[in-house]
Amino acid sequence: MFKTIEWKNNSVVMIDQRLLPTQEVYRKYKDFLDVAEAIREMVVRGAPAIGVAAAMGIALGALDIKTKNKKGFLKTFENVCKVIASTRPTAVNLFWAVERMKGVVRKNPKLNIEELKQRLVQEAKTIHKEDILINKQMGRNGSKFIKSGDTILTHCNAGALATAGYGTALGVIRAAVEDGKKIKVFADETRPFLQGSRLTAWELMKDNIDVTLITDNMAGYMMKKGLIDLVIVGADRIAANGDTANKIGTYSVAVLAKEHKIPFYVAAPLSTIDLKIKNGDKIPIEERDTREVTHIPAPASIKQGKNIQIAPHNIKVKNPAFDVTPNKFITAIITEKGIAKKSFEKSLKGLFGK
Ligand code: MRU
Repeated sequence: MFKTIEWKNNSVVMIDQRLLPTQEVYRKYKDFLDVAEAIREMVVRGAPAIGVAAAMGIALGALDIKTKNKKGFLKTFENVCKVIASTRPTAVNLFWAVERMKGVVRKNPKLNIEELKQRLVQEAKTIHKEDILINKQMGRNGSKFIKSGDTILTHCNAGALATAGYGTALGVIRAAVEDGKKIKVFADETRPFLQGSRLTAWELMKDNIDVTLITDNMAGYMMKKGLIDLVIVGADRIAANGDTANKIGTYSVAVLAKEHKIPFYVAAPLSTIDLKIKNGDKIPIEERDTREVTHIPAPASIKQGKNIQIAPHNIKVKNPAFDVTPNKFITAIITEKGIAKKSFEKSLKGLFGK
């Protein structure tokens, strides 16, 4: 089995997701600036995996601080956190991880620089380990929504590649398979970055889970034909009222699911829930390079000059990377702490013990 991200001998090793499914290349990072670039360029992507990469990037940055002066250390550490936090705006797991790493420093004012560095490395490793356990618990909580014989539609990649391992939406699917249920998955290809065709299809095939690839515009047809029993997707940020930001195109799938009376589930850890944000209108939506739309396949190849232009030169382009699905389209939100249902506001707060 592949490893999405790992801490190895004071470096961060990540599978380069831009090159999948045709090349399985692992990259080793020793400099936090390169980890920041890897998050921005989507070597690593998916909300929980971005959180883990952010924590490990901060740990690398801390290890590299040369000063013996505590005040100087804290100032440089703040800057490391700032750089990592500036990489991608939508997935709240990034900011959650930055806050957790800052918390290590805040809560241990008596530790010297060397001790702090070791604690920060430890925290990043803990975040990684916890994420896998959380996903497995989420899988167990969500498996009950799946019956043997079901066909599940998913959008983007909310799998092992989007997390430290196992996955959120694909974790629920994996748990159902482990429970002995015979299921089929339809994967939306997920234009423009193709996380569905390049990543979801790849990792489900590796696990021998029955997966069929469709283009995004085929989902409605499949639903009308009665070929989809339920939808499960991941999330990048869930507002206090349950409105959910996820990969662009998720909203259209949710609207279609409602029209066809198909349950629509979101699987996400508590670290993806942002109770500070009241509703989906307030979630920042990342706009990415227009070349993701005008050229194929992935940006890594584009940079190597192997791009194929599929739109006129100088065409005006929009490329929002995420959209927001209003809570009314969501049947339930599956988390490691249990299931949130309508009204989401109360239910989500309850999961945090509030
Ligand atoms: O732009 P990406 O690939 O980082 O977007 C990923 C998604 O939208 C996922 O569905 C989401 O992060 C959930 S991953 C468990």
